[in-house]
Amino acid sequence: MKTDHFHNKVVIITGSGQGIGKRTAEMLAKRGAKVVINSRHQEKVTSVVETINNGGGNAIGLSGDVSSYHFCCELRDFTLSHFGRIDYLINNAALASKGGILDTEPHLFTEVYKVNVFGGLNAAKAVVEELIKTKGGILFISSLAGVIGLPSYFLYSSTKSAVATIAESLSNELYDEGVFVGVHIPGFTENDPDKNIMLPNGETVVLPKRTNVKVLSRDTTVKRIILQLEKRKFRSYSSFSGYFLEYLYRLSPPLSLLFIRMNRQRIMISDTFAAHPIYQRKNRKK
Ligand SMILES: NC(=O)c1ccc[n+]([C@@H]2O[C@H](COP(=O)([O-])OP(=O)(O)OC[C@H]3O[C@@H](n4cnc5c(N)ncnc54)[C@H](OP(=O)(O)O)[C@@H]3O)[C@@H](O)[C@H]2O)c1
Repeated sequence: MKTDHFHNKVVIITGSGQGIGKRTAEMLAKRGAKVVINSRHQEKVTSVVETINNGGGNAIGLSGDVSSYHFCCELRDFTLSHFGRIDYLINNAALASKGGILDTEPHLFTEVYKVNVFGGLNAAKAVVEELIKTKGGILFISSLAGVIGLPSYFLYSSTKSAVATIAESLSNELYDEGVFVGVHIPGFTENDPDKNIMLPNGETVVLPKRTNVKVLSRDTTVKRIILQLEKRKFRSYSSFSGYFLEYLYRLSPPLSLLFIRMNRQRIMISDTFAAHPIYQRKNRKK
């Protein structure tokens, strides 16, 4: 009988205390992977580890912040001390943020970049030598918002675009070492009930269930992430709209910008919490 590709593979998934990361860990564990759970909150990590282990899987977890390179080295050493090797890193941890340049507090620039960009770089740097030994791989989770800069999402969009570029560089740089590097572009995916979004004043609020856009189920997105990892495909999308937007952008950047410009008001008020007073100034039509 053919052994599952992920059987006994050791996979670190950052930001796996909830949402897409958590579901990815659960599905990989079902396929025989040894999974390493991480997020900043210990109680979330413990809960995911327990759920997986009670279901017959093999999980360990370490809470901490991937924006610290020192923590990423601890995460690597913790994984090696328990499982002895590292096959894959999924750079999934991220902060969602929304707000225009007029309203956003400058200290948030650093805060969002520290997690969304430096977090992925820190984790990649910490484990890359281990991945060379196992001929493993790194998957960066980007976003549709990273394909083209969206109004009111300049911070989030730019970090997700950076993530895709980092993946492109590393995929070529590590090619001769036999290390796979890819980028996944999820479409709008069903929120975890605990998913937070950062307002331009730095306050975090729970992102309500999205009702005004078509959302993918978490399982749909996660199955595509896992398939991409298994097939070692550089770029993959969980929705057709992601594929379409990227295709349009590559075909004609000016046309894509025009498309976004024509839909700017709709994008800026697209979230169910857009009525929050903090967004009223920039949402006002002239
Ligand atoms: N959901 C969507 O519609 C969608 C669409 C496009 C792209 N994405 C991308 O897909 C990924 C997962 O999204 P999601 O919706 O599942 O997000 P989520 O529900 O907000 O989960 C994010 C996870 O990251 C952890 N995290 C945040 N900052 C961290 C840090 N500094 N260090 C370690 N862990 C950290 C959070 O837990 P703690 O708070 O405990 O740290 C949480 O477990 C993200 O990269 C996101 O940008 C999502």
